[in-house]
Amino acid sequence: MLVRHTRFALAIAFLSACKSNAPPSSSQANRGGSQAPPTVIPADVSHGEARIGTAVDSAPVDPTPPPRAREHLVHVRFEIHDTLIEVSKGVRYHAWSFQGRVPGPIVRVTQGDSVDFTLVNHGTIPHSMDFHAAQIAPNKYYINVTPNDSLHYRFVAEVPGVFMYHCGTAPVAAHIANGMYGALIVDPRAPRPPAREMVFVQSEFYMVPDTTSQPRSLSWDRLLSLAPDFVTFNGRSSQYATHPIRVKVNELLRLYVVNAGPNRFSSFHVVGGIFERVFVDGSQASPLVGVQTVSVPVGGGSIFEIRLKQPGEYPFVTHAFADATKGAVGVFKAEP
Ligand code: CU
Ligand code: CU
Repeated sequence: MLVRHTRFALAIAFLSACKSNAPPSSSQANRGGSQAPPTVIPADVSHGEARIGTAVDSAPVDPTPPPRAREHLVHVRFEIHDTLIEVSKGVRYHAWSFQGRVPGPIVRVTQGDSVDFTLVNHGTIPHSMDFHAAQIAPNKYYINVTPNDSLHYRFVAEVPGVFMYHCGTAPVAAHIANGMYGALIVDPRAPRPPAREMVFVQSEFYMVPDTTSQPRSLSWDRLLSLAPDFVTFNGRSSQYATHPIRVKVNELLRLYVVNAGPNRFSSFHVVGGIFERVFVDGSQASPLVGVQTVSVPVGGGSIFEIRLKQPGEYPFVTHAFADATKGAVGVFKAEP
């Protein structure tokens, strides 16, 4: 099943820190000192701590998943690159990426489909791939690919849900913190009801240095201290608060939420709403009905269904509010 091709590829959250009434930036807040929380809150700050913007420009990452798969053999080919990304306005970061983006592409298959996977390493160190949607022996398939090499394997996606995928090379925390993760939707054989669908991957960034305009890179100390500079949905701080997502009042929203971590649990919540149904960690067995906040563990993924009842702006957050303040916040703008 596994083929190794030798030399195959040789082939917001932050209000501007200069405002006197702005909350401390996450870096300031994290890095010692005794700053008090802000006492004067500007009127345009959402309940999720981010400034509410306008939907004139779309957010950098489209949360819409691809349509349901039609083929039963789905080819997925990921190239790994060292990539400079922008985690927040003006904050660039040396990431390791699948297909040049963080998170990696959304993959969508249907229960019972085979995934034919190829990983090509154009990076500078070994990497690998671990699909949570697969049930295969890690020591055979989740193995390292050296630079300028590739690997290929297949698995059958037998269980529906939304699953994390990630590089599994040690130290895994560093490979995840550097951006090597994404979401894979496995649709059940009997399709879910029509809905407006979105995918949100929550993750953290731990950075050095924090004081220059130069691109930043991973702080291992901060990672081990669980003190992220930024917590994001889809790799960029507060992007859906500054670019609210327009939805319709009462339309069914289906949110696929994966928590890539590498460390912080998500307490997923929509301010002003109650989830109609939640498929906890993707399980079809006993969806929760009528719940306010459901945690998504690191390495897990849940499916949330909700309708927003009135026109207005509804922040979605991790209710662990330090993390929302660091960027894990967005806004649905419900329109008649
Ligand atoms: Cu890696
Ligand atoms: Cu994993």
